[in-house]
Amino acid sequence: MPQRKTLWAGCVLALAACIPTGGATLAGLSSAEMGQVETGRELAQSYCAGCHAVGEQDSSPLPEAPAFRDLHHRYPVAHLAESLAEGIAVGHPAMPEFVLEPGEVEAFIRYLESLEE
Ligand code: HEC
Repeated sequence: MPQRKTLWAGCVLALAACIPTGGATLAGLSSAEMGQVETGRELAQSYCAGCHAVGEQDSSPLPEAPAFRDLHHRYPVAHLAESLAEGIAVGHPAMPEFVLEPGEVEAFIRYLESLEE
């Protein structure tokens, strides 16, 4: 079936085109998911980096604030989704209460998950 073959070739080409962008950093993430990771990183940097270590190597400006890359040792980071949407109140006066939009929550969780790699 010649038609099938052409289709195949098209698929292989499309796949090959994806690999340099998607495959290089985080294997298995679609480009939409990569976009969320980026958004999450920006959220963390603008709202949280004043106190928390938000990257892979940095240390928290406020020593009591846990590094985001360590949160997954305490609980699956997806568990934070609810608290992020309702406002995290950790019972610590140093941590202001935050409420994120649903889309932001998803992006933020994806970013946290990306730190676990
Ligand atoms: C003004 C400083 C400050 C900012 C800004 C801040 N935090 Fe925190 N955060 C803290 C401190 C201090 C703790 C530790 C509280 C404790 O252990 O009692 C903490 C703890 C946490 C914890 C751990 C809670 C737990 O019980 O495991 C999470 C999750 C967290 N922060 C998320 C965030 C997120 C998300 C942002 C940005 C949207 C943020 N924080 C911004 C100071 C801050």
